[in-house]
Amino acid sequence: MMVDWPALKVAALESQSRAYAPYSNYRVGAAVLTQSGEIFGACNVENASYGATCCAERAAAYMAVAAGYTVLTAVAVVTNGDAPGTPCGICRQVLAEFGGDMDVLCFTPEGAEKAYKLSELLPFAFTLE
Ligand code: THU
Repeated sequence: MMVDWPALKVAALESQSRAYAPYSNYRVGAAVLTQSGEIFGACNVENASYGATCCAERAAAYMAVAAGYTVLTAVAVVTNGDAPGTPCGICRQVLAEFGGDMDVLCFTPEGAEKAYKLSELLPFAFTLE
């Protein structure tokens, strides 16, 4: 299925506006696309006990899985700054669980963007297979 990037980006931006990041001030929004076309967005959620923080990408993937969708085909990630940030290592591993070949678009609200395949961000992912 074709990826509706504009819709994914809108969902990621909407989610970024709800980032809970009072400690780092690094606000992240992510939106995943399921194989059947549903979109789930989420933001990073920080905690006073820093290690309890959850990244936006992982939160979005878990939203999809909790709603019954375990095959993801794309994710859009928005961060502020000059160059778009890419998903952290743990998030790459979590995304790989639900779509090893997914398309990853990292962008900023100002229009910078970079596209990847998850398999290039995380070669040799540890998987069920
Ligand atoms: N963060 C994400 O949401 N995604 C990433 O891929 C990298 C880091 C969040 C976690 C924390 O709230 C803040 O960014 C700074 O690390």
